[in-house]
Amino acid sequence: MRVAFLGATRGMGRSLARLLAERGDELLLWGRDLQDLERSAADLATRAGRAEPFPVLALDLSAPDHFSETVAATIARLGGLDLVVITAAAFGTQEDLEEDPERARRLLEVNFANTVYLCELVRPQLLESRGTLCVFSSVAGDRGRKPVGLYGASKAGLSHYLESLDHRYHSAGLTVVCVKPGFVRTAMTEGLPEPPFSGEPETVARDVLRAIERGKPMLYTPSIWGWVMLVIRHLPRFVMRRVGF
Ligand SMILES: NC(=O)c1ccc[n+]([C@@H]2O[C@H](COP(=O)([O-])OP(=O)(O)OC[C@H]3O[C@@H](n4cnc5c(N)ncnc54)[C@H](OP(=O)(O)O)[C@@H]3O)[C@@H](O)[C@H]2O)c1
Repeated sequence: MRVAFLGATRGMGRSLARLLAERGDELLLWGRDLQDLERSAADLATRAGRAEPFPVLALDLSAPDHFSETVAATIARLGGLDLVVITAAAFGTQEDLEEDPERARRLLEVNFANTVYLCELVRPQLLESRGTLCVFSSVAGDRGRKPVGLYGASKAGLSHYLESLDHRYHSAGLTVVCVKPGFVRTAMTEGLPEPPFSGEPETVARDVLRAIERGKPMLYTPSIWGWVMLVIRHLPRFVMRRVGF
């Protein structure tokens, strides 16, 4: 598969990109730090047994003016696109974001508006190839919760968009995979209090690869989070007002 990947430098993205490289996919990495990206591209090429590193192109999710030309250059370089993976996103605690509304605005822009814009730019090409769009949202978008009100709102919007995309274009051949991780140990969650059922990026990556291969439209991972969120989605408002999660 010809794959454009945003977020392969760290965390769950890095684990998933490794699996894609090892199965022989033709990757092109997007990211905001070219030096870092080149290191990741070289590491992935070694894992794939390739002499040449995978190509890289600069794409910063907070700078949407450049998306269009980067997408065009990617399509030219790979000769088309079969899979686009977006794991990149910003995070901030509710307290930090409430204290700094400008940071909250930027996070909402990066995680929602700019991510959706990027998806819209790759959609025509993926429709042409009957390809797959795999985007990482979050369980935080499933319910308005005290500790993740702002971050969760950005992911709720993203999940909503991805669901509608699946409804609208599934019959035309587009596969949409919306990934909703629970709490996973990565740089993003470093220093946060760890809830029960925390997962590892490698486990998530294996789940996501299976979901991509099967064309599963929505995935909770690690899978126990599907049950956790089923309960949380059904808790009455008076309970949600009292509890701290
Ligand atoms: N970890 C969790 O518990 C958890 C739970 C639910 C959902 N999620 C979601 O799962 C996805 C992956 O999370 P993770 O924990 O693996 O994150 P991570 O380890 O912090 O990695 C984040 C990735 O996003 C990239 N990125 C961040 N801002 C970017 C920007 N403006 N432009 C381009 N790239 C940018 C980073 O690139 P750099 O190397 O340049 O920083 C990095 O590759 C995210 O969408 C996150 O919201 C995570």
